[in-house]
Amino acid sequence: MNINEAIQNRRAIKLYDPSVKISDDDFKKLMELTILAPTSFNIQHWRFVRVTDKAKREQIRAVAWGQAQVTDASELVIICADLKAWAKNPRRYSNGAPEDVQNYLEKALTDFYTGREWIERDEAMRSVGMAAQTLMLAAQGMGYDSGPMIGFDQDAVAKIINLPSDHVIGMFVVIGKRTADAHPRIGRLPVDQVVINNSF
Ligand SMILES: Cc1cc2nc3c(=O)[nH]c(=O)nc-3n(C[C@H](O)[C@H](O)[C@H](O)COP(=O)(O)O)c2cc1C
Repeated sequence: MNINEAIQNRRAIKLYDPSVKISDDDFKKLMELTILAPTSFNIQHWRFVRVTDKAKREQIRAVAWGQAQVTDASELVIICADLKAWAKNPRRYSNGAPEDVQNYLEKALTDFYTGREWIERDEAMRSVGMAAQTLMLAAQGMGYDSGPMIGFDQDAVAKIINLPSDHVIGMFVVIGKRTADAHPRIGRLPVDQVVINNSF
């Protein structure tokens, strides 16, 4: 499947065949593609919680508006981010680069984040979004369906997955095989309503 087909065919799928299992090998392949998504300063602050425990899936569904895909999709991935990843051994993000480049990047990212807590969160959400779309397109390319989700109680899910206090939850992505197609696309705004030439 080429990239245009993957983009065109991806839909937010809600109903999944619960008997379908994704092998650990396929899941690893999906994640290996996902983590090639870009992040500012290459900090890769995303953290992916793969929820395989059935009881946890039920608990999460109960705080996710009862949405069936939480328990029925083959995979539930909770995409989180470490808000403080920038301060945790940041030289590892430029590992392999010449020393002057590593020095430059370490100072640049430290200056960028220090004392700017709001940007930690903005950056987290940007990176989670990049990862989510990459994961969904990778899934499409490997013959799976997927769905992004934000319809859940953030605090309740944080408790269930024991989210560290310096992490945030961005969104869920579910992956599996559909049992029902998505409804026809609705309400898509035309390009000329969303593209602005040069200035608003
Ligand atoms: C961040 C995000 C959160 C979403 N949350 C949910 C959700 O909780 N439940 C749901 O059924 N769909 C959810 N959706 C799916 C959207 O409704 C869907 O992407 C949109 O209607 C466009 O349809 P399409 O993705 O099939 O083109 C979410 C989409 C995004 C991007």
